[in-house]
Formats: sequence, structure tokens, C-alpha cells
Amino acid sequence: MRMYDIIKRKRDGAELTNEEINFFVRGYVKDEIPSYQISALLMAIYFKGMTERETLALTLAIRDSGERADMSDIKGIRADKHSTGGVGDKTSLVVAPIVASLGVKVAKMSGRGLGHTGGTIDKLEAISGFKVDPDMRTFKEIVNKVGLAIVGQSDSLAPADKLLYALRDVTATVDSMPLIVSSIMGKKLAADDDVIVLDVKTGDGAFMKTLDDSRKLAQMCVDIGKKAGKKTSALITDMSSPLGYAIGNSLEVIEAIDALKGNGPSDLTELSLALAVEILFLCGMGDREQCKALTENALRSGKALESFAAMVEAQGGDKRQIYDTSLFPRAKYGKSVRAQHDGYITSVNAEDCGMASVLLGAGRSVVGESIDLAAGIVLKAKVGDLVHKGDEIATLYSNRNDFAAAENKLLCATLIGDKPRKKSLIIERVV
Ligand code: URA
Repeated sequence: MRMYDIIKRKRDGAELTNEEINFFVRGYVKDEIPSYQISALLMAIYFKGMTERETLALTLAIRDSGERADMSDIKGIRADKHSTGGVGDKTSLVVAPIVASLGVKVAKMSGRGLGHTGGTIDKLEAISGFKVDPDMRTFKEIVNKVGLAIVGQSDSLAPADKLLYALRDVTATVDSMPLIVSSIMGKKLAADDDVIVLDVKTGDGAFMKTLDDSRKLAQMCVDIGKKAGKKTSALITDMSSPLGYAIGNSLEVIEAIDALKGNGPSDLTELSLALAVEILFLCGMGDREQCKALTENALRSGKALESFAAMVEAQGGDKRQIYDTSLFPRAKYGKSVRAQHDGYITSVNAEDCGMASVLLGAGRSVVGESIDLAAGIVLKAKVGDLVHKGDEIATLYSNRNDFAAAENKLLCATLIGDKPRKKSLIIERVV
């Protein structure tokens, strides 16, 4: 079998066989196929798509590209939540401690930023000393001890996803349904949790822009999860504008901590609670009303915050930052972006905001690039807010004093006009 022929067949719209899919996944992991050929194949998949059979074959090839996690020594039900990627989406940092504080075990493997979207692992590195790569034994010990650990994808677990994910990030091949489904479900199945809840984003800032595509993606993921014997469901949620006010790594962790303290933005809190309810419900912890009461109480009582602090300490992080967020890295420079005229904010394009934060240094443009943990954006006005010419609509932060491109992107992202109709954040549930 030759990689050249696989690329050519996909380029010409053919359906790849399971053998061809296994061949390129294994070959890439073993370093027998160069990344330029995989990049070409990813682009062919991007344009020609994959059938459900091909998508399932790719998911299983990714799952089987390394070891399967043996989590049998973690006591209790293990659950995970995974998002298809959003801007300002720090819900994992809120949801995981809520459910962990209620006795669900969360052994979470998260990713880094992808394209214009942020990644939980990059965010957690804003906590000084926080180790995202403990060995498997330590990882499981932490989960058993404090109920929760969040680590980067290990090299041994679904290594194909880690490699493909990094390549897609820099070759403009992220927003492809089969590549997203196989990436998410390949690693989730390798991680072998009992319960999987997916947050499938839809809208301008999501990889799937239309509700139809988001539904298809959600259903494919849920079906694959269920077929593999996992309790799986998905919420389709709006990502036409950023979630919360903060975009960028340390800024987002601070906002997540605010939410855990009960002072978070209402959209972030609403979505985090809904995802936590979904997890508790699939874990059999009561009906939806009971699960809702449990999650609200976890925030109100401070138990979820304690859970987060316990994880930070167990993973070597500086717990003082949780109680005093002024200890997070701060950017040297800041710049106000101001409204150009009076009116209501009618839209804040999430993808452009994500790109603006990448321009400020918060994301990557080439594989492995280091990022500025303090860089990012704090929005000062959200969709529906009334602003006047000259009002500050956002503050940009960076350690490079070069804001022109990001400011321009943010101004283009923010439309001001007549009072808009309010959109629902949580659009539907897919089971
Ligand atoms: N999240 C993932 O894990 N993979 C994708 O491809 C997109 C979002």
C-alpha cells in the first residue's frame, strides 16, 4: 500500500477502505509516513468528507493507535465532558470540580488550543507549577484521592489524535466533521470513561457553523459512544459569540474561578450547570431536578471550588492563586477598544475574537509554538448591551506592545445596531 495512492483516492472522492485508514494512522504514529503526506490527506478529507463507515474506522484506528487506559483501579463512576471547541469556553474548569465534589470521578485528558479556539491544558498552565503530564500511576492516585485530575493527552493514549490534532491546527483542517468526530471519540473511547457528555458548539465561532451540521456531528458522536457501551449524550450550544467575557489562558482561568465562587458570568454559569446536570443524570444520581439542585448546591456551598483547589494542589500548582487571582500572570500591555458609534451590540463574532486573541499571542500559528499565557481579551460589552460612541467594548492584553491587527479584528467582530433578539444558549439535547 502506498500513501500516495491513498491521498489520490481521497482527493478524487473515493471511499477509503478500513485497511487504508489503519495504514495511514499506524504509519503516521510509527513515523513511517511524513507529515507533508498526512497534511495532504487531511486536506483531501476536509474537501471530500468521509462516510459514516470511514469515520467509524478512523475513530477506532485512533482509539487503537496506542494503549487503552486501564482505569479499573479508580473507584466509582468515571465521567468526562468534552467540547467540540469554542471561544472563551472554560466550562471544563467549572463542570469537572462541580461533579467531582459530588462524588463522580473525573480523570480528564484535555487538549491544547486548536485553531481559533482555546484548550484546557494551555489554560491550566497559567497556574504556576501546575503539572499537566504526571505519569499514569500518579494521575490515577490523584483521581482516587481528590476525585479529579486534568492532564494533557498522554503519548501512550490515542497518540494518533495528538499528532493529527497538532497538524490540523496549523493546516486549516480543523473544521471537518469526520476529523472532529474521530478525534473526540477516538480519545474518549481510549480513555474508557463510563459516562461521556459532549458540548457540541454551533454558530460562527464553532467548527460546525450550522445547526444541521452540529446535529449530525452530535448524533454521530453519541451513536459511536453508545455502540461502545458508554452512556453518552450531547448538548448543542450556541457559539455565535464568546462564552463569558474572558478569552485567553490566564484570563479564562480567573473567570472560571469566579464562576466556582458563584460570581461568574451568567452564560458560563448556566452552561456549566447544564453540563454538570447532564453528567449527574447519566451517572444515575437522580432526576433532572434533583441533579440541578445538587449542582447549584455544589457551587453555593463552596464545595466545587474546594475540589478545584484540591486538584490544583495535587497537581503541583500554586493553590494561593485560586483564592487570590491577582497572582495569575498579567500582561505588560493593555489597550482599550472603543465603540465607534451608539447602539446595541448585535453580534460579537466568536471566531474573529478567537483569531484576535491568537494575534495577541494567546494561541499558536505553527506546531509547538509557545504562547503568551497572559495574553487575551476581556470583553466589556456582550450581545444585547447598549453602548455609546467611545465606550470601552473590550480590553486587549499582550506582552507585545502591538495591538493594531487584533484591535481591527475585534472592531470587525463587533456589530452595533438595533436591539437584537435574545438567542438561547442551550439549543437541544441529543441522546
Ligand atoms: N476537540 C477535539 O478533541 N478534537 C477536535 O477535532 C475538535 C475539538
